Amino acid sequence: MQMLVTAGPTREHIDPVRFLSNRSTGKMGFAIAQCAAARGHAVTLVAGPVALATPPGVQRVDVISARDMLAAVEANLPACEALVMCAAVSDWRPRQTSTSKLKKRGLSPILELDANPDILATIHDRKSGRIFVGFAAETGDPRPEGRRKLADKGLDLLVANDVSQPDAGFAVDTNRVVLLTCGGEEQKLPLLSKLEVAERIVAWVEQALASRIR
Ligand code: C5P
Repeated sequence: MQMLVTAGPTREHIDPVRFLSNRSTGKMGFAIAQCAAARGHAVTLVAGPVALATPPGVQRVDVISARDMLAAVEANLPACEALVMCAAVSDWRPRQTSTSKLKKRGLSPILELDANPDILATIHDRKSGRIFVGFAAETGDPRPEGRRKLADKGLDLLVANDVSQPDAGFAVDTNRVVLLTCGGEEQKLPLLSKLEVAERIVAWVEQALASRIR
C-alpha cells in the first residue's frame, strides 16, 4: 500500500528565534513509518522539526508549521491509500510573525493567536476509499475524548493514549494505547515498545484495506 504518515510537533514562529510548540519528539510516527516500510509498503513521512534519522526506504518531507504540514499532506494525499496522522499539530499560531528578532523591551506581554486549520477536518471530503488513522493524547482516561475525536474527525481508527503516564506518550520509547475503531471495538494494548505499537497499527490498516478491496 501507499501510506502517508505525519510525525512530530509543528512550530509556530513568533520571530526567527521564538516559537510555540509542544513536547512531541516524533518517535511514534517514525516507528510507524519504519514498520510500514519494513513490511514492504511505500511510505511518505511528513515530519515536523525532530531530531530523528529517516527510517530506511522512507521518503521524507520536512515541514515546520501546521500550515506547511497541511500543504504537504494535501500534496501527498491523492497518491496515498492510508493516512496516519500521528503529528501533534499546534492548535494555535501567533497572529503576527516577525522576520527579524523582536527586542525584549519592545515586546507586548500579550500574544495574539489565530487557530490553525485542523488537517483531518480540512481533507475529510477527499477521504474517498482511504483509511484514516488519528491519535489522541489525553491526560487521564483517553477513551471518552478519543471516541469523540474518532467520530468528529471521521476516522477509521483512533489511537488514544494517556500522556500523564511516565511510560507512555511523549519522548519515551514505550507506549500504552487503546485502539478505538469506527465499528465500535475497543482494544486496550499492554505496555509495548513504540515499534510494537506501530506493528499493531500497520497490521490493522493492512486488514482494513484488504477487507475494503474484497
Ligand atoms: O490535537 P487533537 O487531539 O485534536 O488531535 C487529534 C488528531 O487530529 C491527531 O491525529 C492529530 O494529528 C490531528 N490533528 C489535525 N490537525 C490539527 C490538530 C490535530 O489533523 N490542527
